[in-house]
Amino acid sequence: MFVMITFFFLFSWSLAGVFGVDEVKSVSVTEGESVTLNSGETETQTADLIMWSFGQNNSLIAKINRQNNKREFPNERFRDRLKLDQTGSLTVTNTRTTDSGLYTVRSTRSVTLRNTFNLTIYGE
Ligand SMILES: *[C@@H]1O[C@H](CO)[C@@H](O)[C@H](O)[C@H]1NC(C)=O
Ligand SMILES: *[C@@H]1O[C@H](CO)[C@@H](O)[C@H](O)[C@H]1NC(C)=O
Repeated sequence: MFVMITFFFLFSWSLAGVFGVDEVKSVSVTEGESVTLNSGETETQTADLIMWSFGQNNSLIAKINRQNNKREFPNERFRDRLKLDQTGSLTVTNTRTTDSGLYTVRSTRSVTLRNTFNLTIYGE
């Protein structure tokens, strides 16, 4: 029993390392294309709120409340170019080179869910 518990703790600990907050996934597309950044949520595990922030200011660009499906896109620079699906994954359409930068997703379900994407948009 003790061995199992010890194993479980070590296993959880290593998972935390693998999916830890410092992991940055690199994504690159060509200007004008659409790109989808995965929230890491599944449809059945509902988080109350999923929030995306962007850039050096870490400003909020998209938010979905999954209890009432209300979506908000408070940032003007992405005006009409963002979409959120049911799982909170973010799609940026008609990408511009200035959309390059860090995108971070957070969920109120779990403090450990925090994915960061380094998006690079290449000019044509
Ligand atoms: C970041 O914040 C500064 C100061 O509030 C502002 O001047 C700048 O435009 C912001 N940058 C972005 C990318 O939103
Ligand atoms: C993001 O990707 C660009 C292009 O590959 C790279 O120059 C930059 O250092 C990366 N930034 C981070 C924070 O990983």
